[in-house]
Order: sequence, then structure tokens, then C-alpha cells
Amino acid sequence: MWWSSGPVNAATKSCQALSRHFSVYAEDCLLLGTLLADEPVAVQVGVTSRVAMPAGAIPPWQKRHQFSPSRRPQCHSSGACSAAHNTVHCQTMLPQVIVKSGKARPFYGRHPWVLCSAVERVVGEPADGDAVDVCSHQGRFIARGVYNSHSRIRVRLYTWYDAEPLDESFWRRRIQSAIDLRRQLGLDQPRGAVRLVYSEGDGLSGLIADRYGDYLVVHPTALAIARRLETIVAILQQITQPKAILVRTDPATVKAEGLELHDGFYQGEPPPEPVTIEEYGLQFRVDLTAGQKTGFYLDQRDNRQAASRYCRGRRVLDMFCYTGGFSLAAAQAGAVEVLGVDSSQTAIALAAENAALNRLSQVSFRCGDCFQTMQGLIDAGQRFGVVILDPPRFARSRRNIPEALRAYHWLNRLACELLEEDGILATCSCSGHVGREQFLEMLLGVSQQTGRDIQVLEQRGAAPDHPVAITCRETEYLKCMICRVR
Ligand SMILES: C[S@@+](CC[C@H](N)C(=O)[O-])C[C@H]1O[C@@H](n2cnc3c(N)ncnc32)[C@H](O)[C@@H]1O
Repeated sequence: MWWSSGPVNAATKSCQALSRHFSVYAEDCLLLGTLLADEPVAVQVGVTSRVAMPAGAIPPWQKRHQFSPSRRPQCHSSGACSAAHNTVHCQTMLPQVIVKSGKARPFYGRHPWVLCSAVERVVGEPADGDAVDVCSHQGRFIARGVYNSHSRIRVRLYTWYDAEPLDESFWRRRIQSAIDLRRQLGLDQPRGAVRLVYSEGDGLSGLIADRYGDYLVVHPTALAIARRLETIVAILQQITQPKAILVRTDPATVKAEGLELHDGFYQGEPPPEPVTIEEYGLQFRVDLTAGQKTGFYLDQRDNRQAASRYCRGRRVLDMFCYTGGFSLAAAQAGAVEVLGVDSSQTAIALAAENAALNRLSQVSFRCGDCFQTMQGLIDAGQRFGVVILDPPRFARSRRNIPEALRAYHWLNRLACELLEEDGILATCSCSGHVGREQFLEMLLGVSQQTGRDIQVLEQRGAAPDHPVAITCRETEYLKCMICRVR
């Protein structure tokens, strides 16, 4: 028997099963255990439970758990930390949020949101925005985060090392790492636009930072970030040296998180007019102060390019066109005629400006409701070689999913009716609550009801400056299916 202590439950059994095939350390089983059980099983035994291994042998997956000294900070806490930093009590001065028995599993699995329903009690009196330690109901350290009694997300988690304080150097390391990734991706073109920090996708829950040429737009979506805004803006300023940093909020987040924050320029002077950015050789004017989101839908950058590859020589209908992203890409790729439709008059005005800026005369824009416009085009007997659908988020919560799927169904059905034989449908959903499978099922329903075969050619997501955190699948929200409709 390999295991000398610790309760035998599903996790230990799995570890034992694995250990028949590999020599394992107890610590290696810890992570597996945390994914399978609410409480880690090997944790009680600590270093004494280390299983004998042949000298020099390295467990095949050990590297995954080894952190270089630069990534794994040294313990500075005054408490008596043992070598197994993450697995034992570590005395800190921080208040503690104790999670309910049976609710700790996602946090051991590094999901960063501790919902209020998972909280058993709070030890100490943290103020909103204070750092807290999240502990199991047995008092073991799980992770460190920031407390907000106003939010359904009671604690946002940032580190799983008890020795890592959430100080200036922590935020700097995380922001630098996020920006390094964009450099690695080649997205640091001076006139381009890029998401430098994507919230949970970059381990920075509640922080979005987009660069538009010389300007930075910071969008805090959590009190944890709003309370540290000065520090974060100073770090971003030092690393990226923009002409100005604009902070933008949205009313829903302000309400949900209890933010006391206003839009405005925190550093530098506002640009005199909408800024001009470049994307795949096209120029776009972006209104940083009044445009939707932070000004531009950066997540669709590569999907605009991908869809454009099907547009040469075709009539293209770009539904929910905003400032003309897909329309201009289609025209640049050789579409003979492009019609873009959006319900926002200001977006349409900027779209027309963008078409003129790029001297793309085959593009026209119309302000209107897309559902009604599509029905009108069907009634008028119009047909298109390519239809692009990029609607706003239809499902705002789980409850909305059935309603959202009906809206997607209806929209895609209208698109199929407008498509020529063997036409191309580029259909998107930014509803995180609607899964990829559900979206494909919806397309199946459309195919059955219209009698048109739908061949999925490309299944795409957001551009890589919106990385998906494997520990927080909510970061994967965008779906873009490029299909042939027969
Ligand atoms: C996800 S954005 C589109 C982004 C755009 N495709 C791009 O690449 O920049 C959704 C757009 O739908 C528009 N919209 C929302 N409801 C609409 C409706 N019923 N009819 C037309 N446009 C609508 C919004 O104004 C917004 O510009």
C-alpha cells in the first residue's frame, strides 16, 4: 500500500490508480486531488507523505507543478511556513473568507470567482477592496484575493501562493506578463489596436486594457481593480508610455460591483478627434470616449480577415456592422458590393467615414434594425453571396439562454433565406452562456427548417489577445462559424 495516511476517497483512489502506472509524489497527487475532491487528500500528510521514488527518477508530469524561483515567490510571511507552501496553514495578517464545506473545489482548481453562495463566514472585518485569504472550512489556505461585499463575486482570486502579497510588484508582474504575450503575438504595432490585458484571461480578474495607437483605454470591471486604479494606471503608463490613458466604465458593472468611478482621462490629454488605428492594412477611426465597449471590437480582428477571404467577387451583407469592420475587410478582399446595417446612427456615421478613409466605394451603410432589414430584403427578392451576422450578446444570463437561442435561430434562418446557393454564412455569438455545442445545434435546427445543408468550414473564437484561461472557461465567449450554405 502506497498511502500511509489521508482519507481514502475518490481522489486518493484515482491517485492510487495512477500510481500503479507511475511513481508519484504525494504533492503531485495534490493537484489531481484538488480537482477531484473538495479537500486535497494528500495535504494533511505534507512532506512526511512523500512516496519513495527511485533515485533520480522524475515523475512525468512533475515539471507541470514545478515553478521556477522567479515565478514562485519566496515566503515573506512571519508565520511558520513549511516547504510545502501551498498546502499548509500559513499565518498572515489578512482577514479570511472561509468557504463552505463542499464548495471549495473550484477554487483549488484555480477558478477566480468566489461567489457569495460559497462563503461560510468571514473572519476579521475586511473592507470592500481589501485583500483577503480564502480558506477551506478546515482553515487551510486556498488562495488570496480581494473582497467585495457588494458583489455576487464576493472574492476575486489572484494568487494561489500564500507567500505572494497583492502589492505593487504583484500587479506589475502580471501586467508585464500580459503585455509580453502581445509582443510575442506580434500585436505591438505602433498604429495598431490590441487588448493588452484581458481580465481573467491574463490572471487579472476585472482589468481590461486596450491600446489604440498612442492611447490606452482602461476598463475596470471589478472593485478590486477600481480601488487600485492609481497603481495600475501608473504601471501601464510606465510600461507602454501612451500619450493618454482614458478610464471607461459601464453602468451594469458600476452597479454590480458598487464602483465609485467616473469615465475620464487619468493621464494626458484627450485626443482631438477619433483616433485612427490600422488593422490588416485598413484604417479605422475609433471614438474612444463614446464608442461601444472601449471603442472597437478587437476580439473580431482575425474573424474579419477570415470571413473576408470568402468575399471576392460576391455581394456581401454585413449585419450588425458597427463601424464597418467586416464590411471594409470584405470590400478590401474584392467584394463587388457590400451593405452594412446597424441600429446605431453614430456607428453608421463612423462606418461611412471609415469606408471613405479607405477609398472603398463599393460599400454602403444603412441605419436600422437587422431583423426588419433582413425581412425587407427577402421580401424584395434580394440575394447575397456572403451574409455576416455579428449580433450583440443575446443571453445576458443563464435564464436567457432559450430566448437567446430562439433569436439566433430566427436570425440565421433569415440569413439562409438571403443566401444564394453555395453562399457563405459567417455567424457569430458573443453570448458566453451559449456554448459552442448549443450554437451548432441551433444551426442544425436552421438547416432542418430551411432545407439548406450547412457545412461548417471554420470554427473560430476570439483573437489571441483575448486568451482563454483554462481555469476560467467563461473567458471563452466568442464563437464565429464560417459555413457554406448549399
Ligand atoms: C458585436 S457588435 C458588432 C461589431 C462589428 N461586427 C465589428 O466587427 O466591429 C453588435 C452591434 O449590433 C448593433 N445592434 C444591436 N441591436 C441591433 C439591432 N436590433 N439591429 C441592428 N443593429 C443592432 C449594435 O449597435 C452593435 O454595433
